[in-house]
Amino acid sequence: MNLATKTLKAGLVLALAVALGSSAALAKKKKAKCKDGETATIAKYKLSKGENLDKAINASLTGAAGDPKKGLKWMTHRRLGNCIACHEVKKIAALAKAGDVKSQKSYAFHGAVGPALDGVAGRYTEGELRLLVVDIKKAMPDADSIMPSFHRAGGMTRVHKDCVGHNILTAERVEDVIAYLKTLK
Ligand code: HEC
Repeated sequence: MNLATKTLKAGLVLALAVALGSSAALAKKKKAKCKDGETATIAKYKLSKGENLDKAINASLTGAAGDPKKGLKWMTHRRLGNCIACHEVKKIAALAKAGDVKSQKSYAFHGAVGPALDGVAGRYTEGELRLLVVDIKKAMPDADSIMPSFHRAGGMTRVHKDCVGHNILTAERVEDVIAYLKTLK
């Protein structure tokens, strides 16, 4: 084999490898329904005694405080938190401007399946709010709540097959939501 054929061969092998690699990446992309940053990582946390609920998670899941601006984003994101599908929040509804379809889509149209979250930071401690968002089943074991457990990977029903084992909100996003909830005094 002369050098030219050798180089050609090597080039072909390389091209094939690149093509295979990118088609695998494409197939992966197509399958991923959990596309908004949901992960399979569940933060380790310690349950403490609560004041208004039996239990609470007093420490931040990430060790840091969240960002309330991002919290608002996750709470109104129709695939992630979607809290306002079930909860009214006056402060969020006030962000929907008359005649502005985009802001109305994000901030208007609240459901009333759960209690309004206005003043919720006065009714629960930060640690209790954290447990309510992380795992409502642990926060209110007797309620048999339809609220999703946002930071749990197992024991959920009718999960899309691509999302099995994934949380809905990552630890960081839970902390963002907690930071926003704390503004609802
Ligand atoms: C599918 C509906 C649904 C969604 C979505 C939902 N919740 Fe809830 N939530 C409820 C219900 C119902 C309750 C009342 C508990 C119960 O009896 O089930 C509740 C209770 C709560 C409570 C306690 C309120 C109180 O006054 O006792 C908080 C806080 C809360 N939810 C926060 C959130 C946040 C934050 C989100 C979004 C990240 C969210 N919820 C998404 C249905 C929902």
